[in-house]
Amino acid sequence: MNTTEAVVTTVAMENQWIPFTPNRDFKRDPRLFEGAKGNYFFGPEGVQILDGSSGLFTTPAGHARQEIATAVYEQVLELDYTSSFLRSHPKSFALCEKLTELLPEGLNKIFLVNSGSEAVDTAIKIALHYHRVRKEASRTIFVSRERAYHGANMTGVALSGLVNNRRAFGLPILPVVHMRHTWLEENRFVPGQGQHGAELAEDLLRLIQLHGAENIAACIVEPIAGSTGTLVAPVGYLERLREICTAHGILLIFDEVITGFGRTGMPFAAQSFGVTPDIITMAKAITNGIIPMGAVAVNEAIHDTIVGSGAEGSVEFFHGYTGSAHPVSCAASLATLGIYEREDLFARGRKLSGRFLEGLFGLRDAPGILDVRGYGMLGGIDIDPAVLGMDGYGFQKLLYDMGLHIKSTGNSLVYAPPFTLSEEEIDQVIGITREALGVAKAKE
Ligand SMILES: Cc1ncc(COP(=O)(O)O)c(C=O)c1O
Repeated sequence: MNTTEAVVTTVAMENQWIPFTPNRDFKRDPRLFEGAKGNYFFGPEGVQILDGSSGLFTTPAGHARQEIATAVYEQVLELDYTSSFLRSHPKSFALCEKLTELLPEGLNKIFLVNSGSEAVDTAIKIALHYHRVRKEASRTIFVSRERAYHGANMTGVALSGLVNNRRAFGLPILPVVHMRHTWLEENRFVPGQGQHGAELAEDLLRLIQLHGAENIAACIVEPIAGSTGTLVAPVGYLERLREICTAHGILLIFDEVITGFGRTGMPFAAQSFGVTPDIITMAKAITNGIIPMGAVAVNEAIHDTIVGSGAEGSVEFFHGYTGSAHPVSCAASLATLGIYEREDLFARGRKLSGRFLEGLFGLRDAPGILDVRGYGMLGGIDIDPAVLGMDGYGFQKLLYDMGLHIKSTGNSLVYAPPFTLSEEEIDQVIGITREALGVAKAKE
C-alpha cells in the first residue's frame, strides 16, 4: 500500500473481542487483511501488503498454496472427522512418521494437538506423568526463563517471562521458577549467536541448588525466544543447559513453535544448534498456518515409560483433545511437508538468510534503532519511541500503511519472511522498514 492514510472499512466490528490487540484503537483505526496469495496479503480494495512475518511465523511456503487447499478439500469429502480417542485414521500415522524423519534422531513419538499452547500444556503433563511413573513424584517444579513466551493457556501464563502476559491472571497454577533472559548489552548488533552469555545457563544450577534437583521436572526454553523479539541463544548456552539437565535427571524441553520447520535453516533449531532436548513442541508452520495444529515430539524412553506403565488394555495417558489428529489438519500438514520437501524450502530459506540478515543488520545506523538481532530467517529490531515518536504498535501500523506486514511485540518488530520471497522482496522488506523509520523520525 502506498498511502499512509488509515484504511476505511464498512464491516461492523462491535461483536468480536480481538486477541492480543488494543481493541478500541483497532476498531477506530483498523488494519484488515481481506485476501492473501503468495508473499502478499491484500488489504481493502486489493491493496498489496508484503508479508514480512510469514503471517504469525506460520506460513513459510507463502499463502494460498493450491496443493494444501486441494488436500484439505479432498480430505473433507473423504473423512471429514474422526476423534482420535479409541479411533484413528491412516493419515495421522503417516504424518507422525514424516515428522519423525525431520526431527532430531531419537525424538520419534509424536502426540498431536491443535496449537502451540496445547503443545506446551501437553509437554508439561508428559513431564509430570513421566516422573511419577518413575517414582520421582516430587519433581513438580518447572524452570522457565524471563522474556519467554509459551502460549496463552494457563500453563503458558505460568511459564511466561513477559509481565503483561502474567499480571492480570493472579498466581500461576504451576510451580515455575525463572532463569534470566539472554539479552546482553555485549551482544547488541551481533548477528547469529552472541559470544557472551553461556554463563547464564548456570542460573539453572543455582535454581537446582535452591529447590533441589529432586523437585524439578523440566526446563523449558525457546532456542530462539521469538515472541519477545528474537533473542538468540548465545554460543554454548543450550549445550550447558543440556549438560545440567542430564546430570540432574531434569527433562529439557525446546519450545520450537516458532523455530520449527526450517526457520533456523535446519528442520528444527535443535539441529541448527546441535543440542538434542528430550521433548520438542511445535505448531504454526506444521500446516503452513492453514489449519491450527500442534505436536509434541518425545524420545522413546519417555514414551515407553508412560505407555509401559499402565495395565494392558488401560488408557496410559489421560490426555487429548477433540481435535487431536484431526483428519483435515493431518492432510494439510502432509501436503505442507510435501511442499517443504519438493521445493527444498528449508535450503532456500538458508540461502536467503544471508541477504536477509545483511539487510536487517544494515538498519543499525537508521534512526531510532536500539538493537538488531537475527538468525536464519528470523530477526528482530528494537526501536526507540523517544526518537521515532511512536511505539512498536504504532510503527507496525505505519509499516502496514507503507505496504509491509510485520509483527510487533512491545517496541520490538519481529521479522520472519516466507522462504518463498525473492531476493528483491527481501530487499523490499528492509527498504520499507528503513523508509518507515525515516517517515516516523520526520513526523516526530
Ligand atoms: C514459542 C511459542 N510457544 C507457544 C506458542 C503458542 O502457540 P499458539 O498461539 O498456537 O497457541 C507460541 C506462539 O507464538 C510461541 O511462540
